[in-house]
Amino acid sequence: MQPAAAQDALRGKLLYHDIGRITGAGVSCIDCHGGVPGALHGLGKVADNPAAIAYALGAVPQMLMLRGRLTDTDMADIAAYVATPTVASPDLQRTMIGAAASPYSDQRLEFASPGTSTVRLTNTGVLGLRLDGEPAIFGPAAADFAVRATDCRPGVLEPAHSCIIEIDFAPRGLGLRTAALRIEHAWIGGGMAVGLIGRGD
Ligand code: HEC
Repeated sequence: MQPAAAQDALRGKLLYHDIGRITGAGVSCIDCHGGVPGALHGLGKVADNPAAIAYALGAVPQMLMLRGRLTDTDMADIAAYVATPTVASPDLQRTMIGAAASPYSDQRLEFASPGTSTVRLTNTGVLGLRLDGEPAIFGPAAADFAVRATDCRPGVLEPAHSCIIEIDFAPRGLGLRTAALRIEHAWIGGGMAVGLIGRGD
């Protein structure tokens, strides 16, 4: 057992939520066990007990896809997170602003006509969030959408700070136009994506 200081509950939180993407296993602890505290299937015994993870990886058939993908450090960090689920971390929230904001979803902008709307990113956590790139637009109709202005730049988005990305929509074809806005960051998911939907007619 390592001394408590060697374990990194913040990194453990990232792994608990995102190890499926980070290792390529496809599923993360949270996908089957749910959020901590209150996680299902006996996950609570992991608190400060990395050996319980090693045992489960060997014994639980449903966890086969994770077998061999966790280092001792990964297990120690996850055990530290389960023991300290309130560990200080970043937390990214997005808000859609303008005519294309959907009343039903914070996952996308829906343009009924050409125009400009805004995505606001806010770090509601208590640690800085590192943004790793400029906002970029991908997808079949990427050319129909453009970043008009942004102050979401590579660097640290401090707690309680926001940045915005203004998106222009000008259809270059008929029918449903779809793309996605993405910005890379160093926290869960490795980035944030917003769907961009518009109509060309
Ligand atoms: C695909 C689903 C799935 C994923 C992903 C998953 N688990 Fe599990 N895990 C289970 C199920 C189902 C059980 C309960 C098995 C049982 O009770 O028979 C379990 C049981 C456990 C147990 C208890 C074993 C025991 O001794 O009773 C631990 C500890 C555990 N998982 C840790 C983890 C950790 C940590 C992760 C992430 C690294 C993880 N699991 C990812 C499905 C999953």
